[in-house]
Amino acid sequence: MPENGLGRREMLGTAGAAACGLALAGCGTRDTKAQESVKGKAITKTADVPVGGGKLIEDLKIVVTQPTHGVYKAYSAICTHMGCALSTPEDNVIKCACHGSEFAADSGKAIKGPATDPLAAFRVRVEGDGVVIA
Ligand code: FES
Repeated sequence: MPENGLGRREMLGTAGAAACGLALAGCGTRDTKAQESVKGKAITKTADVPVGGGKLIEDLKIVVTQPTHGVYKAYSAICTHMGCALSTPEDNVIKCACHGSEFAADSGKAIKGPATDPLAAFRVRVEGDGVVIA
């Protein structure tokens, strides 16, 4: 169960609807299916996710963050404003270059508009040296 209480499909649907509502590039079910297909799989190594930063997994459109040492989070890397791809996190902020929205790396909440909705979150766990989508 995602941390914000929404079901994973609901969140993906919300992100997808935001992206698809304006028929932007990358819109459609392919991204959602790619994200769902990683359940139970390591999507990155913990060593590749710096504290305060993160790793953008572009092909899956997922961003993994480590807001504090040993705490890993994962979010859809699709901006909730109009569906642009997000950038690699820095200083615990995930930015969207399209219109300047910013999201907190520890919660996925929009901290600077125009986006107001949080990023869709995935539960993750560490297995060995990998970050796994739960
Ligand atoms: S699409 Fe990200 S801020 Fe507009």
